[in-house]
Amino acid sequence: MMHQPLADEFRYRLHATDGAARLGEVVTPRGVIRTPAFMPVGTAATVKGMYPEQVRALGADILLGNTYHLMLRPGAERVAALGGLHEFMRWPHPILTDSGGFQVMSLAALRKMTEKGVTFRSHIDGTYYELTPERSVEIQGLLGSDIQMQLDECVRLPASGEEIARALRLSLRWAERSKKAFELQPKGRALFGIVQGGDAPELREESARGLVDIGFPGYSIGGLAVGEPQEVMLRMLEVVNPILPTDRPRYLMGVGTPDDIIESVARGVDMFDCVMPTRSGRHALAFTRFGRINLKNARHADDPRPLDEESDCPAARDYSRAYLHHLVRCDEMLGSMLLTWVNLAYYQHLMAGIRAAIAEGRFKAFKAEVKEGWARGDI
Ligand code: GUN
Repeated sequence: MMHQPLADEFRYRLHATDGAARLGEVVTPRGVIRTPAFMPVGTAATVKGMYPEQVRALGADILLGNTYHLMLRPGAERVAALGGLHEFMRWPHPILTDSGGFQVMSLAALRKMTEKGVTFRSHIDGTYYELTPERSVEIQGLLGSDIQMQLDECVRLPASGEEIARALRLSLRWAERSKKAFELQPKGRALFGIVQGGDAPELREESARGLVDIGFPGYSIGGLAVGEPQEVMLRMLEVVNPILPTDRPRYLMGVGTPDDIIESVARGVDMFDCVMPTRSGRHALAFTRFGRINLKNARHADDPRPLDEESDCPAARDYSRAYLHHLVRCDEMLGSMLLTWVNLAYYQHLMAGIRAAIAEGRFKAFKAEVKEGWARGDI
C-alpha cells in the first residue's frame, strides 16, 4: 500500500472496502496509523512488561494512554514540563488518550457527576479532583496526545432507557464544550466525540446524529463491552456505523477479544484498544491462532512444544510450553513478559491479516478461516 507523506493535518484516507469492512490510514504529524488498527494499552505511560521498541516492532502504530491515571501520577503539568508524554515514555509515534470519565467511574472513590463535570477522590491517596470537559481536554493537551477523547458518561448495562438517555444527552453537551476547549490546541491533533446510548438502538442513533451535527474528525463508540452479550454490541455497531461519515475514522473503545475485533471490523470499525492481550498475558493466558491457551494448566508441565512453531514472535516460537508453565507457576516476571509479547504479537498479526484480506477483497473468507482455527483448538 502507498503511504502518504507526513502531514501537518490530521486526516483519514479510506483505501478499500470489502462489505462493510474498511481498509484505510489515519495520517497524523507523528505518523501514519494503518487501519483497522489495534492500539496496545499503555495506561501509566508504559505497556506493562514491554519495551516501547518491542511494541513498535510488533507493528503497533499507536498506543493508548489514560488521562485519569496520568493526571494523578505523575501529573499532567509535570509530564508537560518534561517534554510531553511521547518524550517521557520514549514512544515517538502517535498516542491516543482516553478522557478520564470512564476510569473515574470504575476506579475512583466518592464520585459525583454534575452538569459541570465529575468530582472524585484519587484511588491512590484520596486527594480530591475535579474533571470537567475543559480540564480533560487541557490535560490531554499537556500530555501532547495526538488523538484526544471528549469527556463522556458511560452507563453500566443493564440500565433504564431514561438513565441511558440522560447520560447520552449530558455527553452531547460535554462534546460541544470539549470541542470548544480543543480549539486552543496546535493543528494536527484530533478530538473524537464518543457515541453513547447503551443497548437502545434509537438512543444510539440520537447520540450518533447529535455528534455528527457537532462535527468531529473521528468518532468513538463507547458504552459497549460493559456486560452486554456480543450480539447486542454488534447490533449497536450496525445501527451507529451507517450514521457516521465514511471519511472519518471509527474507534470502538475497550474492545475486545479477537472474535469481537474481527466481527466489529466486519461492521465497519477502524480502531480498537483493549487490556485483554496485556492483562491476560500477566494472568497466564496466551492468545494464538489455535485459540486461548491457559499456561497454568498442569497439562503443559511436560510439553516441549512452543505455543506456535510457525509464529514470527520468538516468545511464541522458541520457548517451550513446559518452560512457560514453570514461569507462571513460580510467578516469575519473565512469564508475564513473554506471554504479553505473545499476545500483542498475535493481536498485531491478526490486524495485519485483516488489512491484507480487505485489500484483496477476501475478508469474509479470511474471517471464516481464522474462526475455524480458534474453533479447532490447540493440538
Ligand atoms: N473505554 C471503554 N468504554 C468507554 C466509554 O464508553 N467511554 C470512555 N471515555 N472510555 C471508554
